Amino acid sequence: MTHDEAIAAIDWTAYTHPREQLVRLGRHDFPRLLAERGLTGVGVEVGVAAGLYSKFLLDNSQLRCLTSVDDWAAPAYSRLHAACVATLSAYGERSVIIKAPSLPAVAQFHDGSVDFIHIDGAHDYDNVRQDLEAWYPKMTRGALFSGHDYHTVWPDFGVVRAVRDFADARDVPVISITCRDVNNFPSWYWFKD
Ligand SMILES: C[S@@+](CC[C@H](N)C(=O)[O-])C[C@H]1O[C@@H](n2cnc3c(N)ncnc32)[C@H](O)[C@@H]1O
Repeated sequence: MTHDEAIAAIDWTAYTHPREQLVRLGRHDFPRLLAERGLTGVGVEVGVAAGLYSKFLLDNSQLRCLTSVDDWAAPAYSRLHAACVATLSAYGERSVIIKAPSLPAVAQFHDGSVDFIHIDGAHDYDNVRQDLEAWYPKMTRGALFSGHDYHTVWPDFGVVRAVRDFADARDVPVISITCRDVNNFPSWYWFKD
């Protein structure tokens, strides 16, 4: 299945969990959501590949600093580390790259210190759930918590189930799902209470 075919295969009627709502936004709207709420501190993207979404965030948000975390361990991604460094070097001290697995990288952040997190690392259930549990305490109250690939097109993806289970366990009122991403898969988000 091609990328475009996979996007076309998203079943929008399957988002029936009581906490879910489809919103007419894409993840390209996250910088605006951050600005509207005065979230201008530290951001983190977990899983950045070539750094293209990190670049988008740096170009379009007022975040003081964005940390881009990736282990670049899988063969399909390892060659992208150099490209990411080259792309993000233009942002000087506003961009920090951590080349490490997600969970050890969490320890570099104080609890309650991060205004924005976008989870897009490993996509199987256990890893997504661990990322959600590990990164959530790092966020400030009112911070924007988000992640990519909220769909079930690929059978080995556990993003939807992990996010639903996490939201149920924390009694998160609403999981917003973006449905206006341009040639891209939907993201999930909510603002931390
Ligand atoms: C789908 S790509 C990220 C794409 C990027 N967020 C974007 O939108 O352009 C997934 C990335 O997650 C990284 N990754 C996978 N498991 C990881 C883990 N446990 N810790 C850190 N990075 C991981 C991979 O190396 C890969 O670069």
